[in-house]
Amino acid sequence: MTVYLNGEYLPIGEARVPVLDRGFLLGDGVYEVIPVYARRPFRLPQHLARLQNSCDGIRLANPHDTGGWTALIGDLIGRQDFADQNLYLQVTRGVAKRDHAFPQGAAPTVFMMANPLVTPSPAQFEAGVAAVSTTDNRWQRCDIKSIALLANVLLRQLAVDEGAAESILFRDGHLTEGAASNIFAVKNGTLLAPPRNHRMLPGITYDAVIELARGHGIPLEVREISEAEVRQADELWLTSSTKEILPITRLDGRPVGSGTAGPLARRLLALYQTLKDAP
Ligand code: PDD
Repeated sequence: MTVYLNGEYLPIGEARVPVLDRGFLLGDGVYEVIPVYARRPFRLPQHLARLQNSCDGIRLANPHDTGGWTALIGDLIGRQDFADQNLYLQVTRGVAKRDHAFPQGAAPTVFMMANPLVTPSPAQFEAGVAAVSTTDNRWQRCDIKSIALLANVLLRQLAVDEGAAESILFRDGHLTEGAASNIFAVKNGTLLAPPRNHRMLPGITYDAVIELARGHGIPLEVREISEAEVRQADELWLTSSTKEILPITRLDGRPVGSGTAGPLARRLLALYQTLKDAP
């Protein structure tokens, strides 16, 4: 696999970052995960806009403009020998003597890699996945796509420890998101989505689902969702760039709705597939 590091394309085994990189020592950086279908990055302008928000959120000068990123990403995509890719990019505040305060004059470290994109199979979609619920104990800037993911790592591991795929997070009795995904609920044919705010990452997939629901007249309520509503939902889904739209069919060991993928999930996934082919 060919990766990109600070202006160079090289085999992943040869990419090296100094130990004083602030990403390594302090988790001081931001990232993006962009799905690439048939060598075309999906919703690239939206991903780059979110990257800009993340850079602004941590007061880091974005090292490239939209044109620059688009060219670099296109170049990296073209260097892989597989067409569907999971493109990861991260920018850190660079290499400097360890100190919490921002360094003077350090150049940001830019790293990108593209792995084969593995999305859920139709059978996995139909069966759905299990989730557990837990308290969202992260910081108050979950809208920043920070590489400092320790809280998400620990929260996600709670699910893995229970043989489940994702942890559904609640803050003050309300749904925020998953440890690495956004969460939707369906009740009586209405799609329920938590509002975009600093307590969750504004998912590119989340935005696509909301756009599709609005565009196709699917009843939608974007509002705070209580824990009770999640537990009584007819359908629960997780969404992310790599999992697309994936039903959650068990929550804390109990079936969600029918216990298999629901009709609205099927409809939205079919609509989502059409977006991949859009120019
Ligand atoms: N994670 N919320 C969190 C905390 C996430 O980490 C992610 C994605 C999402 C969904 O965002 P999007 O639809 O833009 O992928 C929501 C990525 C895939 C990751 O960290 O690997």
